[in-house]
Amino acid sequence: MGVDWYGDLDEAVGEVLLDSDTIQRRVRELGAEITRDYRGKTPHLIGILKGASIFHADLVRAINLGVSIDFIAVGSYGGSTKTSGEVRILKDLDESLAGRDVLLVEDILDTGLTLHYLLQNLESRGPKSLRVVALLNKPSRREIQVAADYIGFDIPDHFVVGYGLDFNQRYRNLPNISILKLGGAQKP
Ligand code: IMP
Ligand code: MG
Repeated sequence: MGVDWYGDLDEAVGEVLLDSDTIQRRVRELGAEITRDYRGKTPHLIGILKGASIFHADLVRAINLGVSIDFIAVGSYGGSTKTSGEVRILKDLDESLAGRDVLLVEDILDTGLTLHYLLQNLESRGPKSLRVVALLNKPSRREIQVAADYIGFDIPDHFVVGYGLDFNQRYRNLPNISILKLGGAQKP
């Protein structure tokens, strides 16, 4: 038996911000928009592990075009959970980006430091085009000027979990996106 993750769910997971139906509806809309915008092309959808894995899996199935997929995993330097701005690649892409229409799939755009780094890094690999789709956006938290081309939802400054988003690697499997209720000191 593994760890009992569910015993304290009620305690740690608070108000539902976006329920599963709302998320699924919006993902289908994003897929339709991307399908229109990329007509005649075969976009290459790169999921940023692990947070975007669930969104990526749903989004690719909402796109009515030939697509290819890849994944990249990043982490920030330093022991703190707070984003330091120094990003390192933990798992690199399998394939080259040269000449491809790349769509980077992110779970949440917060300070923007991760995305800023990744965009510079991926741009240097010579894609034909490079755009970003982020499921969630916290505009009030931005520390660096960076924007996504497609955004699922703008949300207020709450730490949220579910639908791929974690707190200490937990709660990624929740179908809803909810506000974390733990004490402020434990939040990143
Ligand atoms: P940024 O570099 O500050 O934009 O950080 C983005 C990353 O921080 C995301 O990909 C998430 O992994 C994480 N993150 C930021 N806000 C939240 C949140 O509310 N819940 C879960 N993870 C978050
Ligand atoms: Mg994370």
